[in-house]
Amino acid sequence: MKSPYIKEAEINRNFTTSLLVRSKEIREKKTGEPYLSLSLSDRSGEIEAKMWDNVAEVMDTFERDDFVKVKGLIQIYHNRPQLTIHKMRRLEDSEVDFADYFPAAARDPEEMWRELRGFISAMSDAHLRALVEAALDDPEIAARFRKAPAAKQIHHACLGGLLEHVLSLCQLCRFAAQHYQVDLDLLLAGAVLHDIGKIYELSYDRSFGYTAEGQLLGHMVIGLRIVADKLAGLPDFPPRLRTLVEHLIVSHHGRYEFGSPKLPQFPEALLFHYLDDMDSKMECMRSLVEHDRQVEGYFTGFNASLERMVLKKAKFMSAESNGQPSPPPVQVPENTPASPAPKLLPKDASHPLFAAPASEDS
Ligand SMILES: [Fe+2]
Ligand SMILES: [Fe+2]
Repeated sequence: MKSPYIKEAEINRNFTTSLLVRSKEIREKKTGEPYLSLSLSDRSGEIEAKMWDNVAEVMDTFERDDFVKVKGLIQIYHNRPQLTIHKMRRLEDSEVDFADYFPAAARDPEEMWRELRGFISAMSDAHLRALVEAALDDPEIAARFRKAPAAKQIHHACLGGLLEHVLSLCQLCRFAAQHYQVDLDLLLAGAVLHDIGKIYELSYDRSFGYTAEGQLLGHMVIGLRIVADKLAGLPDFPPRLRTLVEHLIVSHHGRYEFGSPKLPQFPEALLFHYLDDMDSKMECMRSLVEHDRQVEGYFTGFNASLERMVLKKAKFMSAESNGQPSPPPVQVPENTPASPAPKLLPKDASHPLFAAPASEDS
């Protein structure tokens, strides 16, 4: 295990550790000399870094997605920690343990997998159960499903994140099916299959990104392919039930402008869309508060996918119980839309919380 992690960095202290290069830019000072502007990460978070001196010696020795050892000083810049690097060198992959650098779901994937299989084996509709089991029994799908994130950046963006999201949805489906008296088996099939295409849409061997297939087709189309492939081995599967399952997949983003070609058109499809939307937004908000890098104040930075800043409730309330005065006015960062926020519909018809716009999933 490496030490220290980014979340353990202390302000105005030297910081020596190994990190993953998330982005690298070589810029020019006014003098014409180069400097480095980097974003570095480990599994605990991400930090902006600058290297001002002796840059020529190191700037061509590493690239994005490489590991580097850095030594420098942590300071606050624009209300966020920033690392000024004094020395750095590239590390070989063999010198690091990948698990230290990529965020992972809090729960053990094997334990989550067993829990998911428990939900599926309890399904009473034999056709739907056979379809879902055919997918999950496929060794390649099973291996990828345990590892894949649910998104590149926005929600459940960690190894095992897709499984965590799907398991959370199975639990929500159980409550909601009972409350609304709808078909639990259809909802569970939707939970497992709606994002299954993400196992091929996203790349997650190193930094998360989109595969060419993902960029060109998206996870709904890839998911339909997986379902078609598994149904080829289930010749007795009722054709109308197949249509319902396919509709659950293609309608789960809920709106045309969020990438669904059809609006949800039966109760389980509508309910499933809302559960999926809720689960991704709740996790997005939780993660935003947990990873926010603003040092002062009670609000996170502006989040484009949620279209708002979020109150750091525990910090806000603990200040009152400690007898601190009322909070200062909120520092609204530049470029934050005035309230009420304008509707930020993505230009490329992709839901900011789910899909893969050309560059970023935000
Ligand atoms: Fe999706
Ligand atoms: Fe989802």
